[in-house]
Amino acid sequence: MDVRPIDLGRGVRFDPPFVLAPMEGVTHRVFRDLLLDAGGPGAAWTEFLRVSQVPLRTAAIRRELGPPRADVPVGVQLMGTDPGVVAETARNAVTAGAPMIDLNFGCPAPVVFNKCAGSAMLDHPERLRALVAAVVAAVDVPVTAKVRLGVRDASRFEEVVRAVDEAGAAALTVHARTRADQYAHPARWEHLARAREWTRRPLIGNGDVLGWDDAARMMRECKVDGVMVGRGALRDPWVLARLRARARGAPEPEVGPAQVLGFHARYRDDMLRGGASERGLLGQLKQLYRRLEVGLPIDAAARAGLLRAATLVELEARVEALARACDESAAPGLTPPASA
Ligand SMILES: Cc1cc2nc3c(=O)[nH]c(=O)nc-3n(C[C@H](O)[C@H](O)[C@H](O)COP(=O)(O)O)c2cc1C
Repeated sequence: MDVRPIDLGRGVRFDPPFVLAPMEGVTHRVFRDLLLDAGGPGAAWTEFLRVSQVPLRTAAIRRELGPPRADVPVGVQLMGTDPGVVAETARNAVTAGAPMIDLNFGCPAPVVFNKCAGSAMLDHPERLRALVAAVVAAVDVPVTAKVRLGVRDASRFEEVVRAVDEAGAAALTVHARTRADQYAHPARWEHLARAREWTRRPLIGNGDVLGWDDAARMMRECKVDGVMVGRGALRDPWVLARLRARARGAPEPEVGPAQVLGFHARYRDDMLRGGASERGLLGQLKQLYRRLEVGLPIDAAARAGLLRAATLVELEARVEALARACDESAAPGLTPPASA
């Protein structure tokens, strides 16, 4: 299968065209860097940054974005409604080092929706167009948009796709669900093929891609230029490395207990170094083990045990026991926390 990089112009390329979805509360700097270092995504973004009445400041954006990476473009995702304020924030994001800006028109959360932001904008294609156009005019980096199919149904989807295209966005990502669908399965990929008819821009499909077969099928059947992976990267943090390898005809990474223990230890240490409390860290690690399906023999009972752990020490003892049960010789055990 012919997999080509996506060129957004102004020196920004997604190579390979498999990208990590922004996920609030999940793809914060530490976790995102771990996934990027696993060597897979052709691009990634911050979690959405909410823009209300005043522009977000450069320093606050820089904290979310982290230092620039030479190997992969990491953009800032903004969500707001006021073109002037979002455009000003986008300028600050570029000052903070963002090589690209993404605009969120998909967030379904009621607190966002009721303020007419996120997915609510899908009912107002004209406002959406004005917002994208204002940001495109304000910055000299590529501006992209991420949309759902609509609020209740896909009846205005064509207007939305055309609005993004005409406003000058460098690419469009479509999460193939409506707001009403929330995260229901399966995602409605047939709409991706429709969007292909309406935009000349690079089109990135999103929804329910868990591995190479899904990604290849989405590219083939829907004619998208790239694929965005969200929860699939929680189920398997190496999924984007697998997609990269498969696209190049290289072997996929081997993932066993040693890799999971290494991932866990670095996640823990980087979080602690960043000032996370033990409670916060425990919550983040449980978020990982709630979905993880590779590297360790996690059946329902084992998962419940991990999620019941009351302390970091307890969680780590259970993780190590699972690793030993899987392969004693390959499981060196967890290193102690770096801060200890
Ligand atoms: C916990 C969580 C947080 C999310 N936060 C964001 C976000 O900040 N910005 C955004 O555009 N989409 C967000 N999304 C949506 C994902 O980017 C993606 O569109 C969605 O999960 C569908 O892809 P998937 O089926 O591969 O998971 C979030 C999804 C989840 C599950």
